[in-house]
Amino acid sequence: MKSVGPDQPLHSTAAFRIGAVIKYPEITAAGPYRNIALGQFSSFTPERIFKAAPIHPEKDQFSWKDPDNFVALCETYKKQVHGHTLVWDRDLPGWLGNYAGLPDEIIESHVGTIVRRYRERISAWDVVNEAFDEKGELRRGNWWRCAGPGYLEKAFRSAAEADPEALLFYNDFNLEVNGVKRWAVIKALSRLRQKGVPAHGIGLQLHLHLDGFNEPALRETLRQLAGEGFKIHISELDVSVLPVSGNFPGKEELFLRQAEVYAAVVDAFMAVEEKYRYGITFWGIGDQDSWIVSELKKVDYPLLFDDAYRPKAAYNYVRNTLTGHRP
Ligand code: XIL
Repeated sequence: MKSVGPDQPLHSTAAFRIGAVIKYPEITAAGPYRNIALGQFSSFTPERIFKAAPIHPEKDQFSWKDPDNFVALCETYKKQVHGHTLVWDRDLPGWLGNYAGLPDEIIESHVGTIVRRYRERISAWDVVNEAFDEKGELRRGNWWRCAGPGYLEKAFRSAAEADPEALLFYNDFNLEVNGVKRWAVIKALSRLRQKGVPAHGIGLQLHLHLDGFNEPALRETLRQLAGEGFKIHISELDVSVLPVSGNFPGKEELFLRQAEVYAAVVDAFMAVEEKYRYGITFWGIGDQDSWIVSELKKVDYPLLFDDAYRPKAAYNYVRNTLTGHRP
């Protein structure tokens, strides 16, 4: 099967969102990063500017400049925005760590204010991110401390009241490999639904590694989430290739194995019933943009484009799988 180059938009081959996490303000600068982001993807997830510390730096002060400019850019280029993320126990402003006000007020102030501002402009939100631990228990972090054990419900209620049209997601990692955690999330969101609180979807981050990828487990997870009536977002897809077990096979072989994992993920997602397929978001554009490199300080090549923004085998395998021709 002939692989096709990046001149035809990746997103044009899919019946669902094909997105990327986007750095702001880097996206505003001319160059290959901006060209590929605008040319290949139909959905933009802001990598940091909507997180609590940058958007809500002081209890009574929000910073709207960058979020407003980001949303305006997305509207100019007709990109859907996936709001990330409202309630997360990381990237928090100092004042939140010392918050001693009314529990309900903190969630309404933070979640309600942000979602209302972008009502009908941001069509979906990661309302809560990474709230369960690997034992399937709700983490007792800052948000638990500030807003109590019911903070998940309060967050979803506030988001739903602020924008009744928005799709509301819970987002997390390891749900595809940890059944205890996965079912804790499913049960928590199902309880919200039973109370009449909208909870539309679940984000599987899928920060994968070449060696550990388990396709049957992913397919079973997708079946379960769809079976429980949740829209599914593969929300932060990347495939780390280093360190590799055994002898280093050389970059070309490594990138082919990586491409096969990407193709397997896309193929598994395409098997999900259409009404539960929200989309796939890649967690970066070129390898050097990856958080694994910048944040985790690792030498790695986890994404679809290389350090010179050339398409890798992973790009072609994703492209061919989306067009029904998994290599
Ligand atoms: C990461 C970003 O990619 C980094 O740039 C930032 O410094 C830290 O956060 N799970 C998430 C994402 O939900 O928001 C995180 O993104 C990666 C882990």
